[in-house]
Amino acid sequence: MMTTQTPPVLSGGMPLIGHLREFRTDPVTLMKRGYEQHGNVFAIRMLNSTIAIVSGAENNRTYFMETDKALNVNEPLEFLRQAFGEAAITSPPEKYKNERPLLQSLFSRAKMVGYIRAMQAEVEAWIEQLGEAGTINISDEMIQLTKAVAGHAFIGPSYKDELPSAFWDDYTVISRSIDPILPPNWPLPKFIRRDRARERMLTVFHQIVGARLANPDQYEDMIQLLATTPLKDGTMLTVDQIAEWFLGLMFAGHETTAGQAAWTVIQLLQNPAYLATVQGEIDRFVPVGTQIDGGVMRHLTHIYLAINETTRMRPSAEILFRLVKEPLELDGYTIPVGWRLMVNAANSHNEATAFSNPEQYDPLRFSSERGEGKNSFKIMGFGGGMHKCTGMNFAKNEMAIIVALLLQQFDLELLTPNPTIYRGLGASRPSEALIRYRRKI
Ligand code: HEM
Repeated sequence: MMTTQTPPVLSGGMPLIGHLREFRTDPVTLMKRGYEQHGNVFAIRMLNSTIAIVSGAENNRTYFMETDKALNVNEPLEFLRQAFGEAAITSPPEKYKNERPLLQSLFSRAKMVGYIRAMQAEVEAWIEQLGEAGTINISDEMIQLTKAVAGHAFIGPSYKDELPSAFWDDYTVISRSIDPILPPNWPLPKFIRRDRARERMLTVFHQIVGARLANPDQYEDMIQLLATTPLKDGTMLTVDQIAEWFLGLMFAGHETTAGQAAWTVIQLLQNPAYLATVQGEIDRFVPVGTQIDGGVMRHLTHIYLAINETTRMRPSAEILFRLVKEPLELDGYTIPVGWRLMVNAANSHNEATAFSNPEQYDPLRFSSERGEGKNSFKIMGFGGGMHKCTGMNFAKNEMAIIVALLLQQFDLELLTPNPTIYRGLGASRPSEALIRYRRKI
């Protein structure tokens, strides 16, 4: 029989707002304090909702496997639906099932071949314009680069002509409106700006999709695929829906990837011994002039291990939310209907029982010999279960290509020895992190 005991509420909540202020200003300390006081399951209060916070591979597994069953994902993401529309993770469960095969097909192995070509082209163009030597803030550079990669991969090489610069400004307006806490339909200036930006972007999209429908043979990109492939029930997406898919995929894909790409480079520069191993791999498998493809990528074992370790230590997605629809038992507690449930990286990714010396940068922990990543639910940085990040391989391949080509071309020196984590209301990323570069060849 299910226990009736609910998780213990963390100390320190304030009248009315509960733990809201601490959650906004320093969520990681809040999570760690809860873990120290109560272990893997505890609760906090924010305004009028109670949130159970859980960690550990087994609780993460229940969380992800119960999504779309006892747990609902789209309702707590209403703030994203208002910004980008209803697609994939922001769709209700039945609609999601109808969309999922199309979503998955966008990231098939065959499609990845073209995306890898787009990634190489954009990373090479970025490297080319850096010149012989200089200093960059890797955090900002990665935002620009990941936008270019997504633009090229999703819209094709003509993306620069088809997406005017105002489009990217509007995208920034929408991104800045993201707020998981305030009701997203309040008449606040940032939400009004968001809705206007959305309208303008949808207009741009009508032209882009129109061009593809009029000349289907001329295009081979993600928008073309969305415009010509039916959903599971045989119906087609409307032009507005295609635009919403694109806006949502861009959002899911670029700031998250930018943050983790920047941290991957930073952490390599902070760890010269492992950097030397990675450099050796690049010298051997990605000499100048290499056309990167799946075969080359398969040799980049140590780069992918570094990407995994950065996902553990510096995840872009640090917390994920669900709404409890049916009572759920976790670690001997019952989480009641109407509560929110949250998994978090701060505790899961640093558990001493799951990872040896978790505070140490040690990519080889994920090697097949050591096997610390065998249970994939230990890490929640790309989600898990039904809604696990569809773009995970896209992101990992993009990060691998950035690292490979950057270290193929340049000697790098980290001028900001210890960048801090910038946590806005969206994905986390490094604060300013200056890197001096000098071309090798
Ligand atoms: C380092 C980069 C990335 C990180 C850290 C990341 C993280 C995540 C996480 C944590 C989820 C699950 C959310 C949840 O369960 O609540 C997710 C879902 C998703 N991601 Fe990513 N993501 C990244 C890159 C990308 C890219 C490049 C794309 C697409 C181009 C993408 C598309 C998606 C989509 C479509 C979903 C929803 C999947 C579904 O509902 O079935 N992501 N991502």
